[in-house]
Amino acid sequence: MDKLVIEGGKPLSGTIVIQGAKNAALPILAASLLAEGTFRIEHVPELLDIDVMLNILRELGCRAEHSGDTVVLDTEPAHTSHVPESLMKQMRSSIFLMGPLLARFGEAEVYQPGGCAIGERKIDLHLHGLQALGAEIEEFGNRIVCRAEKLRGADIHLSFPSVGATENIMMAAVRAEGRTTLTNAAREPEIQDLQRFLNAMGAKIMGAGTDTITIEGVQSLNPCQYRVIPDRIVAGTIMVAAAATRGQVTLQNTQPAHLSSLIHVLRRAGVQIVVDGDIIKVGCATRPKAVERVVTSPYPAFPTDLQSQLMVLLTLADGVSIMKETIFEGRLKHVDELSRMGADIRVDMNAAFIRGVPRLYGATVEATDLRAGAALVIAGLAAHGRTVVEQIHHIDRGYDKIESMLTRLGARISRYSPVPNN
Ligand code: UD1
Repeated sequence: MDKLVIEGGKPLSGTIVIQGAKNAALPILAASLLAEGTFRIEHVPELLDIDVMLNILRELGCRAEHSGDTVVLDTEPAHTSHVPESLMKQMRSSIFLMGPLLARFGEAEVYQPGGCAIGERKIDLHLHGLQALGAEIEEFGNRIVCRAEKLRGADIHLSFPSVGATENIMMAAVRAEGRTTLTNAAREPEIQDLQRFLNAMGAKIMGAGTDTITIEGVQSLNPCQYRVIPDRIVAGTIMVAAAATRGQVTLQNTQPAHLSSLIHVLRRAGVQIVVDGDIIKVGCATRPKAVERVVTSPYPAFPTDLQSQLMVLLTLADGVSIMKETIFEGRLKHVDELSRMGADIRVDMNAAFIRGVPRLYGATVEATDLRAGAALVIAGLAAHGRTVVEQIHHIDRGYDKIESMLTRLGARISRYSPVPNN
């Protein structure tokens, strides 16, 4: 397994261009199945999760090329609605195939998806939404078979604003007969991006970004060319890394409005942030201040996907901060690893009480999931001495060559791959 070796203590400095958003690109690639023909999708990051999605689409019969940040995808030859279990298990987002497959083929045969071990991660809201549109769903252990001769628009209320369920239901409802109204929908920017993409294909969707989304079913959709939004979580990770190393970094190609909750918290911590169009400048010359209470919640509140990274900054802050995780029950696993680096954190249920320490020290630590891994990289950059981060395949799921990105900002970070045995 690859690992990252970091010589810490060097402030990050320089300019970086932010990659396209993984969480927007994944449902967009799945949604391409809704039309037959060739799509050109730009600003798609080169990541493990994207490779998995493209492999699933190839397995279904599509032709897909990912070159630079552009994917050219021909969905016309797709001929099966069965996603093999081995591919489903590789990532949670494979569940996005259900809605599009059902809409295109009238059936979908999938398996319980895999993904980061950050909690139970149920799919009941996806299934209830598809059932409300007229799908019959049978579960045989891990295997899920979904059928619908005809999908019909419906009024669907989500008991929780799940991002994935909102997207899956939107994708199925675009080809349903009549109008679907989805209430208590998730409001994340990636959902707005999916709406823009589907509308570019000829769909009639309104309301993404609010808690009510209306979808007028259409009979057919066309392939299109599309550019994915910038990744707000990658941008947020770099912003926190800049602050934690007391550096000075300029981020280009961002959408600052998508980062307003992070910007607000960082400013409370005393980090200097200047926003100018799609550019964000982050600087932190002195020790950050503790932030009394940060709670993760659905957008536009503070994102769970930046919780572990922000926690690293708070471990170095002056005073006691409290971080409460309300989205995933298993998302504080990085606390043990940070403690090995000298952090002073006590966990009680889903809350972490963080007493800031003057410095962290390098150690050998393990990435337990994607964002926890990113947090450990930030900790390594800020720490005194050498940090080794193991299990970095998790990090590769969401960051396009994280070591190259950070090296460009002056970090001393290298990837080591095991020498294969002959
Ligand atoms: C998406 C993001 C992920 C992010 C998360 C929350 C993608 C590809 N991934 O994941 O990075 O951390 O949003 O912002 O966009 N739930 C149910 N039943 C369901 C679906 C969800 O109980 O059918 C629960 C989950 O267990 C979890 C919560 O709802 O506790 C949030 O999950 P959800 O918003 O669905 O996250 P994902 O779409 O999986």
